[in-house]
Amino acid sequence: MKSFHVTTFGCQMNEHDSERMKGMLESLGYAEAAARDDADLILFNTCSIREKADDRFVAHLYEARALKRRDPERVIGVGGCWAQSQKDAVFRQFPFVDVAFGPGQVHKLAEFLTADSLTAQGFFEFEGFTGHLPAKREREFQAWIQISAGCNMKCAFCIVPTTRGREVSRPFEELVAEIEVLAADGVKEVTLLGQNVNSYGLGLRPQPRRFSELLYAVDAITGIERIRYTSPHPAHMREDVIRAHAELDSVCDHIHLPLQSGSSRVLKRMRRTYGRERFMDRVALIREHVPDCAITTDIIVGFPGETESDFRETLEVAEEVGFDGAFTFIYSPRKDTEAAAFSDEFIPHEVAVERMERLVEVVQRRARERAQRFVGRTLDVLVEGASRQDPTRLRGRSSHNKVVNFDGLGEPGEIVPVTIASATSQTLAGEASFLSRLS
Ligand code: 5AD
Ligand code: SF4
Repeated sequence: MKSFHVTTFGCQMNEHDSERMKGMLESLGYAEAAARDDADLILFNTCSIREKADDRFVAHLYEARALKRRDPERVIGVGGCWAQSQKDAVFRQFPFVDVAFGPGQVHKLAEFLTADSLTAQGFFEFEGFTGHLPAKREREFQAWIQISAGCNMKCAFCIVPTTRGREVSRPFEELVAEIEVLAADGVKEVTLLGQNVNSYGLGLRPQPRRFSELLYAVDAITGIERIRYTSPHPAHMREDVIRAHAELDSVCDHIHLPLQSGSSRVLKRMRRTYGRERFMDRVALIREHVPDCAITTDIIVGFPGETESDFRETLEVAEEVGFDGAFTFIYSPRKDTEAAAFSDEFIPHEVAVERMERLVEVVQRRARERAQRFVGRTLDVLVEGASRQDPTRLRGRSSHNKVVNFDGLGEPGEIVPVTIASATSQTLAGEASFLSRLS
């Protein structure tokens, strides 16, 4: 039996796509190898969001070349966003690669592997949903659901519209049916994935749908206890979705709302289609309907032309909102994006690093402060397994998407009440509440 090994880089959509690659390979009779050196087929599912992502991946690719030199029968495949962005150069630069395919062509991998001759091939159309392929889930009780592919926004910094193409939504009934099957198979938590989830369904014909409708339909499925989604766009975040959080038990108390910058001037140059006020107004609406909702975000520092006073506005917003967590990035120019052409306004790296440090200080301090609201409360925690720092304890997540390390009993997939004793900016700690009742 032939074996495969997949290494995944990048976002949750890539995690999802990798699970589908694995499912498809198993249906072709391949088995998953524990390590890369044991595999006949070495696959990479790549990301290209920042330059660092590219660099990390290329080091892995050279490692695969060394393995192939030892055993020339091995097949090396490269899928995902980096492959798509390098479609014209990949075989020239990396002649040891046998097959390359973009995020819209995962299904072509099967065609390639079952063909009579394995001459190098590349597949880079945008067609079909990876979500249509069989999946091999990492965890039995959690599943990714691809609700749409691609993105119609034109954010000046972002490579994704080039690597994943125009936005297409999957049919509503098909998604509901897929989740019904998953629920019957033991899935309790679903994460609905799209580049811009809250524009889901608007292009469906004959009947356009709304993202909030999907939330209500998934909530109605027996067995689904938690619904998460990522990522919504602040410009398209409407009251119906926020109300769904308030009205539906299964929709988690967490919204990841990417800010990118606190300066309306920079947001405009980024083509984000909202300003600081609109963002603050969305936060106010969330807090009005769902006061306890965790809000996390993505922020870019050092976008071309960002002045000290623009950056201070980002600090002000981070201070005012008090995010429960934030991913912070230094701007990285990407091929074929609008902002890559703003090179005469690039911010010196030292300046960007210094801004990043100031931002991280505010983000972490506010996250730590916000997390104190959980101390003394009992939260439902979905157990994921053993704690990473201390294997005698358990680890899980609250509805707010906070990692909780705790003492107690519980099987992966169980939801247990945990009384929170302490909180840092990143994690909560406590004990299962039946333990605290005993002591
Ligand atoms: N440089 C830095 N960060 C970026 N992101 C997207 N493109 C870039 C880039 N060129 C960040 C954004 C996005 C997150 C997934 O990655 O903050 O929300
Ligand atoms: Fe995901 Fe974007 Fe990276 Fe593609 S480039 S894998 S969409 S984060």
